[in-house]
Amino acid sequence: MIILAVICVLLVRFSSAADDLSRGESVYKGSCIACHGSDGAGSFPGVPNLADKAGPLSRDDDVLLNRMINGFQSPGSPMGMPSRGGDPTLTDADLKAALKYMRNKFQQPQ
Ligand code: HEC
Repeated sequence: MIILAVICVLLVRFSSAADDLSRGESVYKGSCIACHGSDGAGSFPGVPNLADKAGPLSRDDDVLLNRMINGFQSPGSPMGMPSRGGDPTLTDADLKAALKYMRNKFQQPQ
Protein backbone atom coordinates (compact mmCIF):
# COMPACT_ATOMS: atom_id res chain seq x y z
CA MET A 1 0.00 0.00 0.00
CA ILE A 2 2.72 2.43 0.99
CA ILE A 3 4.67 1.54 -2.11
CA LEU A 4 1.61 2.27 -4.24
CA ALA A 5 1.20 5.65 -2.60
CA VAL A 6 4.84 6.48 -3.27
CA ILE A 7 4.48 5.48 -6.91
CA CYS A 8 1.40 7.67 -7.23
CA VAL A 9 3.18 10.67 -5.72
CA LEU A 10 6.12 10.16 -8.06
CA LEU A 11 3.83 9.85 -11.08
CA VAL A 12 2.00 13.06 -10.21
CA ARG A 13 5.29 14.89 -9.68
CA PHE A 14 6.69 13.60 -12.93
CA SER A 15 3.65 14.47 -14.99
CA SER A 16 3.39 18.00 -13.59
CA ALA A 17 7.07 18.57 -14.42
CA ALA A 18 6.34 17.39 -17.98
CA ASP A 19 3.28 19.69 -18.14
CA ASP A 20 5.44 22.65 -17.13
CA LEU A 21 7.91 21.84 -19.88
CA SER A 22 5.29 21.62 -22.62
CA ARG A 23 3.62 24.78 -21.34
CA GLY A 24 7.03 26.46 -21.33
CA GLU A 25 7.66 25.26 -24.86
CA SER A 26 4.42 26.75 -26.16
CA VAL A 27 5.08 30.05 -24.34
CA TYR A 28 8.60 30.19 -25.77
CA LYS A 29 7.49 29.30 -29.29
CA GLY A 30 4.60 31.76 -29.11
CA SER A 31 6.24 34.81 -27.53
CA CYS A 32 10.01 34.50 -27.32
CA ILE A 33 11.29 32.63 -30.36
CA ALA A 34 11.06 35.64 -32.71
CA CYS A 35 13.89 37.39 -30.85
CA HIS A 36 15.65 34.51 -29.11
CA GLY A 37 15.57 31.94 -31.94
CA SER A 38 14.78 28.22 -31.85
CA ASP A 39 18.34 27.49 -30.70
CA GLY A 40 18.46 30.37 -28.18
CA ALA A 41 21.30 32.06 -30.07
CA GLY A 42 19.34 35.28 -30.66
CA SER A 43 18.00 36.69 -33.92
CA PHE A 44 19.09 40.36 -33.66
CA PRO A 45 22.10 42.34 -32.47
CA GLY A 46 21.69 42.90 -28.74
CA VAL A 47 19.91 39.61 -28.07
CA PRO A 48 22.26 37.47 -25.96
CA ASN A 49 23.06 33.83 -26.70
CA LEU A 50 21.00 31.85 -24.20
CA ALA A 51 22.93 28.69 -25.05
CA ASP A 52 26.23 30.23 -23.95
CA LYS A 53 27.29 28.46 -20.77
CA ALA A 54 28.52 31.68 -19.16
CA GLY A 55 25.58 33.67 -20.64
CA PRO A 56 22.31 34.91 -19.14
CA LEU A 57 21.06 31.48 -18.04
CA SER A 58 23.98 31.19 -15.64
CA ARG A 59 22.08 33.71 -13.47
CA ASP A 60 19.65 32.65 -10.72
CA ASP A 61 15.98 32.00 -11.48
CA ASP A 62 14.94 34.97 -9.27
CA VAL A 63 17.03 37.44 -11.25
CA LEU A 64 15.91 36.10 -14.62
CA LEU A 65 12.23 35.91 -13.67
CA ASN A 66 12.31 39.47 -12.42
CA ARG A 67 13.86 40.61 -15.72
CA MET A 68 11.36 38.62 -17.77
CA ILE A 69 8.43 40.07 -15.81
CA ASN A 70 9.56 43.70 -15.70
CA GLY A 71 11.66 43.97 -18.83
CA PHE A 72 15.37 44.66 -18.86
CA GLN A 73 18.04 46.50 -20.79
CA SER A 74 21.72 46.28 -19.97
CA PRO A 75 23.72 49.49 -20.22
CA GLY A 76 24.77 50.18 -23.81
CA SER A 77 22.67 47.37 -25.25
CA PRO A 78 21.11 48.28 -28.63
CA MET A 79 17.88 46.51 -27.69
CA GLY A 80 15.99 45.69 -24.51
CA MET A 81 14.03 42.68 -23.35
CA PRO A 82 10.35 43.74 -23.31
CA SER A 83 8.29 43.14 -20.18
CA ARG A 84 6.74 39.62 -20.40
CA GLY A 85 8.25 39.29 -23.89
CA GLY A 86 5.78 41.94 -25.03
CA ASP A 87 2.73 39.80 -24.19
CA PRO A 88 0.93 41.15 -21.10
CA THR A 89 -1.37 38.11 -21.03
CA LEU A 90 1.52 35.86 -19.96
CA THR A 91 1.34 35.05 -16.23
CA ASP A 92 4.31 34.72 -13.90
CA ALA A 93 3.73 30.96 -14.00
CA ASP A 94 3.90 31.02 -17.82
CA LEU A 95 7.25 32.82 -17.63
CA LYS A 96 8.51 30.39 -15.00
CA ALA A 97 7.56 27.50 -17.31
CA ALA A 98 9.33 29.25 -20.23
CA LEU A 99 12.47 29.59 -18.10
CA LYS A 100 12.32 25.90 -17.28
CA TYR A 101 11.99 25.09 -20.98
CA MET A 102 14.94 27.35 -21.86
CA ARG A 103 17.13 25.77 -19.19
CA ASN A 104 16.15 22.33 -20.37
CA LYS A 105 16.70 23.06 -24.04
CA PHE A 106 19.67 25.47 -24.11
CA GLN A 107 21.66 24.65 -20.98
CA GLN A 108 23.02 21.25 -21.92
CA PRO A 109 26.42 20.38 -20.48
CA GLN A 110 29.06 21.48 -23.01
C1 HEC B 1 11.46 41.90 -28.93
C2 HEC B 1 12.49 40.93 -28.71
C3 HEC B 1 12.38 40.01 -27.51
C4 HEC B 1 11.34 39.18 -27.16
C5 HEC B 1 10.00 38.99 -27.86
C6 HEC B 1 11.78 38.45 -25.99
N1 HEC B 1 13.03 38.84 -25.62
FE1 HEC B 1 14.13 38.15 -24.04
N2 HEC B 1 15.60 39.48 -24.48
C7 HEC B 1 15.60 40.34 -25.54
C8 HEC B 1 16.81 41.16 -25.50
C9 HEC B 1 17.20 42.23 -26.51
C10 HEC B 1 17.52 40.75 -24.35
C11 HEC B 1 18.84 41.34 -23.83
C12 HEC B 1 18.56 42.62 -23.08
C13 HEC B 1 19.82 43.31 -22.62
O1 HEC B 1 20.76 42.62 -22.17
O2 HEC B 1 19.85 44.53 -22.70
C14 HEC B 1 16.74 39.68 -23.74
C15 HEC B 1 17.14 38.99 -22.63
C16 HEC B 1 16.45 37.91 -22.09
C17 HEC B 1 16.92 37.11 -21.00
C18 HEC B 1 18.25 37.28 -20.28
C19 HEC B 1 18.17 38.30 -19.19
C20 HEC B 1 19.52 38.55 -18.57
O3 HEC B 1 19.64 38.48 -17.35
O4 HEC B 1 20.50 38.80 -19.31
C21 HEC B 1 15.97 36.16 -20.76
C22 HEC B 1 16.00 35.07 -19.70
C23 HEC B 1 14.90 36.37 -21.70
N3 HEC B 1 15.22 37.44 -22.51
C24 HEC B 1 13.75 35.62 -21.77
C25 HEC B 1 12.69 35.87 -22.65
C26 HEC B 1 11.43 35.17 -22.63
C27 HEC B 1 11.08 34.05 -21.67
C28 HEC B 1 10.67 35.69 -23.63
C29 HEC B 1 9.27 35.31 -24.01
C30 HEC B 1 8.27 35.33 -22.99
C31 HEC B 1 11.46 36.72 -24.27
N4 HEC B 1 12.68 36.81 -23.66
C32 HEC B 1 11.02 37.50 -25.34
C33 HEC B 1 14.65 40.45 -26.52
C34 HEC B 1 13.43 39.79 -26.53
